[in-house]
Amino acid sequence: MLKIGLLGAGRIAGVHATAISAHAGSTLVAVSDYFPENAQKLAAEYGAEARTTDEIIADPSIDAVLIATSTDTHSDLIEAATAAGKAVLCEKPVDLSLERARTCLANSAPTGQPVMIGFNRRFDPNFGAMKAALDAGEIGKAELLSITSFDPAPPPIAYVKVSGGLFRDMMIHDFDMANFMMDEAPVSVMATASCIVDPEIGAAGDVDTAVVTLTYADGRIAVISNSRRAVYGYDQRVELLGSEGLLQAQNMLENTVVKSTTNGVTGAKPTYFFLERYMPAYAAEWGAFVDALTNGADIPVTLSDGIDALAMAEAATQSAQTGMPVKLGDV
Ligand SMILES: NC(=O)c1ccc[n+]([C@@H]2O[C@H](COP(=O)([O-])OP(=O)(O)OC[C@H]3O[C@@H](n4cnc5c(N)ncnc54)[C@H](O)[C@@H]3O)[C@@H](O)[C@H]2O)c1
Repeated sequence: MLKIGLLGAGRIAGVHATAISAHAGSTLVAVSDYFPENAQKLAAEYGAEARTTDEIIADPSIDAVLIATSTDTHSDLIEAATAAGKAVLCEKPVDLSLERARTCLANSAPTGQPVMIGFNRRFDPNFGAMKAALDAGEIGKAELLSITSFDPAPPPIAYVKVSGGLFRDMMIHDFDMANFMMDEAPVSVMATASCIVDPEIGAAGDVDTAVVTLTYADGRIAVISNSRRAVYGYDQRVELLGSEGLLQAQNMLENTVVKSTTNGVTGAKPTYFFLERYMPAYAAEWGAFVDALTNGADIPVTLSDGIDALAMAEAATQSAQTGMPVKLGDV
């Protein structure tokens, strides 16, 4: 039974606490937070202890930590935890700074401790089935990928200001999905971005609507569309055209009822947001981490994968500012 420490007791930490406790191979022993009362509340819900982050990292009886703290703490905590002999599952993104993320890899790799990055969408049953069909050769060679990723509503401005911007905070998931589906990183990134949903987002120096085109060495293409607002719910679709067919992963709906009347044919909206849509994915992500630690399976999403996605976010940010394509090798 793996003993787990959870660093951070905010929004996503609650999701992970559920997954850790529900898994037969892991037990949540301690929770920390910058605000101790947050840690106490979450720890109490799961029969764990509230401790400081330093105490958890220094405790030799804890096998692994899950880092669900604010993004600007991730690299420091990955380094501290791996140096203390702990395996790590860290939330995305690795860091707000690509340079700092690369240093984090250089500093943590020599410890030999496994580090997984929380790109939960790889574990979504729909996207997983799509990737399995692709890998089985069912649509031939992947040639044109389209990823649609719209949030139902923008986050609070206070969040926007510390998020690192849409490309590092939101589209980072889609960059990783592109790498997952296309099985390699692109060579160039071209971004067009605007602020058309909420002028306050623009005033905070960010964008809320963006389209990115990724071009691969052999000419294959991926297109990612993001918006911070979709009034009908969380819109998460992936479409992949291959040399011998097409794969499409559609939205999860609130229910499957379709109403047909003289007025037309209508159905339910997509589930509201990531907590509703991706619960099974977070549980499967945790299962894959436990599997890697206990059965010697490969870490399915590595720190290097996290850095690849962050490099694409950096390139997209530069491209949106200059209006020019950016070669990934230049960032
Ligand atoms: N994979 C996903 O779907 C997903 C979804 C949401 C958030 N995230 C990521 O998870 C991270 C947390 O996001 P959130 O929405 O839960 O934020 P949040 O603000 O709700 O929670 C973060 C918590 O970390 C605490 N904290 C900060 N520094 C700390 C430290 N050194 N030690 C202990 N606690 C500390 C804060 O007090 C806060 O309670 C971010 O990096 C975000 O990008 C990922």
